[in-house]
Amino acid sequence: MKTEQKNTQQLRVVIVGHVDHGKSTLIGRLLYDTDSLPEGKYEELQAICKRRGTDALEWSFVLDSFQAERDQAITIDTTQIWFSTDQRDYVIIDAPGHREFLKNMVSGAAAADAAILVVDATEGVREQTKRHAYLLSLLGLRQVAVVINKMDMVKHSTETFAEVSKQVDEYLSSIGIRPSFIVPISARNGDMISVRGDNLDWYRGKSLVDVLDAFEVESPPLSRALRFPVQDVYRYGERRIIVGRIETGILRTGDTLLFSPTNEQAVVTSIETWPEDPDKVEAHAGESVGITLDERIFVERGHFGSHTQNPPMLSNVFRANIFWLSSNPLKVGNSYKIRYGTHEAMVTVQSIDRVINTNDLAQTEKAGEVGRNAVGEVTLRARDLLPIDPYTDNARTGRVVLYDGYDIAGGGTVNMEGYPDQRSARAPKSENIYKVEHLLSHDVRARSMGHRGGTFWFTGLSGAGKSTLAMAVEKSLFEKGYHTYVLDGDNVRHGLNADLGFSPKDRAENIRRIGEVAALMADAGLIVITAFISPYRADRNRARAASPERFHEIHVQADLQTCEGRDPKGLYKKARSGQIADFTGIDSPYEAPENPEMVVDTQHNDVETCVEQILRYVEQQVALSAATSASGTGEEKAIAS
Ligand code: ADX
Repeated sequence: MKTEQKNTQQLRVVIVGHVDHGKSTLIGRLLYDTDSLPEGKYEELQAICKRRGTDALEWSFVLDSFQAERDQAITIDTTQIWFSTDQRDYVIIDAPGHREFLKNMVSGAAAADAAILVVDATEGVREQTKRHAYLLSLLGLRQVAVVINKMDMVKHSTETFAEVSKQVDEYLSSIGIRPSFIVPISARNGDMISVRGDNLDWYRGKSLVDVLDAFEVESPPLSRALRFPVQDVYRYGERRIIVGRIETGILRTGDTLLFSPTNEQAVVTSIETWPEDPDKVEAHAGESVGITLDERIFVERGHFGSHTQNPPMLSNVFRANIFWLSSNPLKVGNSYKIRYGTHEAMVTVQSIDRVINTNDLAQTEKAGEVGRNAVGEVTLRARDLLPIDPYTDNARTGRVVLYDGYDIAGGGTVNMEGYPDQRSARAPKSENIYKVEHLLSHDVRARSMGHRGGTFWFTGLSGAGKSTLAMAVEKSLFEKGYHTYVLDGDNVRHGLNADLGFSPKDRAENIRRIGEVAALMADAGLIVITAFISPYRADRNRARAASPERFHEIHVQADLQTCEGRDPKGLYKKARSGQIADFTGIDSPYEAPENPEMVVDTQHNDVETCVEQILRYVEQQVALSAATSASGTGEEKAIAS
């Protein structure tokens, strides 16, 4: 009997589990037990079973018959099956075929409020049980009910239930899932699904339907920062309507919107809906709307609208935890199309930092590839800046799908651990500021100095020898009559940058300031040598952009093992023992230059040789007769802004 007092919110459920553990039967039985089978379905089912000569009803035929109906219709890859209890309505998100189902899970097509994990009492936890559970954990699904199915086949044994429950619980807790309930059921006989039955009377917990009724519908993410991924821009004469679905937050007329990655801003003048509603001044997460702006800024599909004070990050490099589905492994150096919200971009796998086998949870560091059904913690790099929300900040936009050609190859969640927001490279904060021209040119200064100025930017791991070489080069240059000065990381952090630590954001600011200071000093005619780890390519590119004609990137190279072996300040040791966090090379990334003007190999050469090598280069570059521009080419020279 259905009552009138229903919860009006529909709960979205996915049902997962190893093949043949009874998923389809459970769906059929749930529909029957909750009186949700469409008119005539039950009779149809009886007839089919009779025809096939089976006594007991095969509940999975219900799904088969739905499928047959669907096959005649258009091909869709997500199917929705409705049922309702006394409490509320449910929709089971399913897909024909195991692989389609997994694709839907990773792509978010199957975004659900809750999951039921089906485990066969006679078989216990199997490979797919683990794989599916891992996926639930990766996607952050917290409301999980486990059902131990086929209890009739183990004579409703309490011991078997306890044993299998323990197995499931052990795996789930190792991946951070706390199942809300573990329910013994028999889908075939309808025990403990909606009706408790007599066979499992030793079980004191809730029936499956009661468990589901106790779950909560995820509330629309209104309190989150506004994210409005642009789907399209419609033009009606002079009017432009920007349409999209609000993923999170609230949008109001009069709000100033900031679009990413362009960093352009405009004020919302109206919210358009179909049919028209002139009183509409506010739209919420989940709504698809059109908006008009007070200025004609450049906006297109894929851009993200946000409020100015809470925008997504901008970065061309980020990390992701990817569940890989394709039979072609994900490999370092491969490029894939990624998609999130309405944004699409090509990314290249820079590194595979860890691979997790979902079956035994074994981890492999620094692997070359991620095979099918494994999870890879990868670092991805795009050519341009992308708007990025870490998954922990925004579960809607912080999720990516990777395509290999047209096929969904994998998907997962984004994090920015170890990487800074590159939006800080934005234009000046102040208005009404105007650049003034010097009355002295660099050439005039250079002639008076006897050499040109320049920035010689040393980058490399801690312990690679940057400071040692910088100081030696400085001394030699000075003795030869050059005007020169070293800006050194440890030194500058005692003064100018005393307010900065080693978070990605602070490092970016450290390098931004030094890039600007070095540019000024080089413009004044000095040979500036900088010795900073400067681990991020984007930051070094920005430093280059500050003095594009006089910037020389010098990679002071020694591998991690060598640097750690030298450990002149004992910092690696401290980092390994956890006393220092965010240490470069240990738990913070170092992005080696791709196209430096020079590489100095301190691992295989002594200090003197390296100093000579650098001196030769510097003297050549600062000679009055030298061409003004640095010699490097390629992508590295691009300005990262
Ligand atoms: S950068 O990453 O922002 O370029 P910078 O070159 O200024 O770093 O400072 C690096 C020096 O700070 C190292 O040589 C080391 O002596 C010290 N240091 C202290 N903590 C850290 C850390 N977590 N990571 C790297 N270096 C650190």
